[in-house]
Amino acid sequence: MKRFIAFILLLTPLFGFGGEDERIEAMLSKMSFDDKIGQLNQVDGRGDIGQLEAEIRAGRLGSVMNIVDPKLLDRLQRIAVEESPAGIPLLFARDVVHGFKTVLPIPLGQAASFDEELVERAARNTAVEATECGIRWAFAPMMDIARDPRWGRIAEGFGEDPFLAGRLAAAVVRGYQGDSLSDPKSMAACAKHFVGYGAAEGGRDYNTTYIPERLLRDIYFPPFRMAVEAGCASVMSSFNDNDGLPATGNRWLLTDVLRGEWGFDGVVVSDWGSVAGLVPHGAAADNREAAKRCITAGTDMDMSSRSYLRHLRSLVENGEVPMEVVDEAVRRILRLKMRLGLFEHPYARQVTTSDLYSEKILDDACALAREATVLLKNDGVLPLSNVRRILVTGPMADAPYDQLGTWTLDGDKTRTLTPIRALREIAGKEIEILYEPALAYGRDQSTARFGRLRSLARKADVVLAFVGEEQIMSGEAHSLADLNLQGAQREMLELLAGCGRPLVTVFMAGRPLTIERETEISDAVLYAWHPGTMGGRAIAQIILGEASPSGKLPVTFPRCVGQIPMYYNHKHTSHRADGSEGNLDDIPREAVQSVMGHTSSYLDVPPTPLFPFGFGLSYTTFTLSELQLSDTTVPANGVLKVRVTVENRGKREGTEVVQLYVGRKSASVTRPIKELKGFRRVTLSPSESRIIEFELPIDELAFCGADRRTAVEPGSYVLTIGTDSRDGLKEHFSVK
Ligand code: BGC
Repeated sequence: MKRFIAFILLLTPLFGFGGEDERIEAMLSKMSFDDKIGQLNQVDGRGDIGQLEAEIRAGRLGSVMNIVDPKLLDRLQRIAVEESPAGIPLLFARDVVHGFKTVLPIPLGQAASFDEELVERAARNTAVEATECGIRWAFAPMMDIARDPRWGRIAEGFGEDPFLAGRLAAAVVRGYQGDSLSDPKSMAACAKHFVGYGAAEGGRDYNTTYIPERLLRDIYFPPFRMAVEAGCASVMSSFNDNDGLPATGNRWLLTDVLRGEWGFDGVVVSDWGSVAGLVPHGAAADNREAAKRCITAGTDMDMSSRSYLRHLRSLVENGEVPMEVVDEAVRRILRLKMRLGLFEHPYARQVTTSDLYSEKILDDACALAREATVLLKNDGVLPLSNVRRILVTGPMADAPYDQLGTWTLDGDKTRTLTPIRALREIAGKEIEILYEPALAYGRDQSTARFGRLRSLARKADVVLAFVGEEQIMSGEAHSLADLNLQGAQREMLELLAGCGRPLVTVFMAGRPLTIERETEISDAVLYAWHPGTMGGRAIAQIILGEASPSGKLPVTFPRCVGQIPMYYNHKHTSHRADGSEGNLDDIPREAVQSVMGHTSSYLDVPPTPLFPFGFGLSYTTFTLSELQLSDTTVPANGVLKVRVTVENRGKREGTEVVQLYVGRKSASVTRPIKELKGFRRVTLSPSESRIIEFELPIDELAFCGADRRTAVEPGSYVLTIGTDSRDGLKEHFSVK
């Protein structure tokens, strides 16, 4: 049989039926039922290798995860190709989430760059590194919209906005998949987790979601659709049940919408054990029923639960699952393997010189970490100038493991450039650098070294405090109920602020933390997320003024946990807050009930976030002027051209991210106050100004209306161009 398949592959192009479909049908017709079921089974390769080899030899596996040693991988592949009954190569998969060996900033940090080109280039580099180790399928990009920073996996996605998330997800897809999947340096991307996983109740990972169809279509679907349109080869179903239906067993989602409406012809893989997960969800009585529901829903590959392997035969033999359903799933997997060129080149690619940690790859990672860093406050202390002695402190100043962030399976922490290392390297000769970590790690409660810290701070011209979260505080199953700095970190900052020296606080974290007090007492604040291998250099370059910060928040920063969920693209409400609310001292004793007005706000906290979506400062200042629209009325299938002048009013070169938002006052259903529909990075020299132009295809304004159809509604719209989501220049236009 193996020989038969090799024969088909060889001859089909010669006889002109080399089309993908013909090749697949020819292969399928020669596969036994067991060969087919084997293709639908994916397991973790980190267990007993002897057993793994036996399963491969028996043809019981279509894909293996987590083997990254190319020699072992080739050995296993040889068994699949030469010894298994059908001789079909395995597809080796891995969570290549933000970099491989060279670790990039966490995706939430990458999103702060608003830089599709750089994100794509860095993703390409990642593919080059990962394929060198034989990985041809990456479980990324993750594009779950997250409006709740308690959720630990907010780190892994691109934030709260569907347009930004979709654009960046598409950039990662292009980077991973290259010009052709069959390029040995390309790997299949996987859009995950479909869908709504980021809306888990209370931010508790894996929890229930209740997202009505309209919200799915307007907010949660668009990034996936954009990834599919970019050619994403696979989609992973999510763990959560939404409105009663676990995604992995939801036929409407995986078949009607994904394949039917969007034309997706790739593979749907379950999440880890999420086929069997229907049982604890209470959506199936046992694994057999779960397998039946999931395969008929359109989940092609069962990741690690073995439910398909165990039950598909009897389900088909009993007539409970049509054979055609199994065949269709197998076809999709064969198609993916074919598109990857695995039948021709099943083995890890041979390299003469390794690209792992190459200079180019490290430089791009550094550039991305630089662009990811957001300047949240600056009283003028940054960039440092005329300083002779600085104190570097805090648990994140030299935390090579923690700064890599969550999902760092392959990065080597001995390659991490931490801030203290980078500052010494770049400025160590001209500036005296005092170093006292004060706390050993984020949760450290011990203040034993604070006395020494105080005396060192008094000797320094400026204090740089690196605080934040340990790696393990965010990521899968790492949600938090309290987003304040942990351990004695706040106390440490209070102490430093009281020393009379300018205090620069740099946060390295996997999520927005609640940092109102820390911001208040610091002279400057940088938010660097978990910035990856090169993060220290990127931050040092910004602090020392070799680069001006340009990052913008991809997610709203609440003042406190009680404000969550808080996101910029919220609805109009009938009782708006005016911004003056939220101070308990303003409330008179025994006042009549209406004295506070009737607004949608809290009595104790202002209705505004600490920092809005899209916010980020620079070392220079920019102004926007002369907003012009090409038309005041546009047809629903038209394109609106938008021009605006951006000017650098400061004394240094800098980059601004100009953001275009659209909203409308009324429609057939209530709508968000505004939505991001375009963004552009512009780099300008001092006093330089430039006219930039956006093209806004009106069909991007479509939303799910009262009739549940997604369409553009005629009416009047407000367009805002700004440098964050709060305000900006406004113009009106109508759609006919
Ligand atoms: C995660 C996925 C991941 C998979 C494989 C699951 O627990 O939710 O994002 O791709 O494991 O490691």
